[in-house]
Amino acid sequence: MSNAELKKQAVARAAIDYIEYDDIVGVGTGSTVNYFIEYLKPLKNKISGAVASSLSTQKKLEENGIKVFNLNDVNDIPIYIDGADEVNLNFQLIKGGGGALTREKIIAGASAKFICIVDESKIVDVLGKFPLPVEVLPMARSFAAREIIKKQGMPVWREGFITDNDNIILDIHHMDILEPIKMEKVLNQIPGVVTVGLFAERGADIVLVSDAKTVKKLKINK
Ligand code: 5RP
Repeated sequence: MSNAELKKQAVARAAIDYIEYDDIVGVGTGSTVNYFIEYLKPLKNKISGAVASSLSTQKKLEENGIKVFNLNDVNDIPIYIDGADEVNLNFQLIKGGGGALTREKIIAGASAKFICIVDESKIVDVLGKFPLPVEVLPMARSFAAREIIKKQGMPVWREGFITDNDNIILDIHHMDILEPIKMEKVLNQIPGVVTVGLFAERGADIVLVSDAKTVKKLKINK
């Protein structure tokens, strides 16, 4: 296994320490989370079950014998575990590299505690080197792209990709996101935009980061 995979595995394993008896666990999407699901499997009879942030996560949870609840059928999600594409020192994130940003944002919003699991390569001073994913209704693709250009972004259509919600993704390149909360609000206002992959207003509560040797809790910037 490569070093990068070992780091993902280590941070996924560390997140298990935060899971408590009877929890309904919100489960994100991506390769790091896939390792988390493998570590969650032995706890399947101790937790109540999971809520999935994508169809692929739902499938993997079910294959591992973990009960999956519909979000509409649960009241509280005490904990949400998910990866990210970039994390800054205020625990604000870019997510959606895997295209699951909308359901991820819903579950993050519905959860009491969001634990983000990443390797050290995802930690940045300023968000935006990773192209910012935006989920858009198909009919609004060109219009939304023009509006994003007016806001100094360079949108690129993720051609051939359709989200679990039957929408398309525009990835915005070359943006230094100096004010993430403001940018999240501005992009959210564009008609046709379903979700912006900036998790700034509701970022993570805890960020676990793995390097070659250990997994640490990131210290938030005060
Ligand atoms: C999916 C996501 C993922 O959390 C993000 O892309 C990180 O994935 P990985 O763990 O594979 O690096 O936002 O929509």
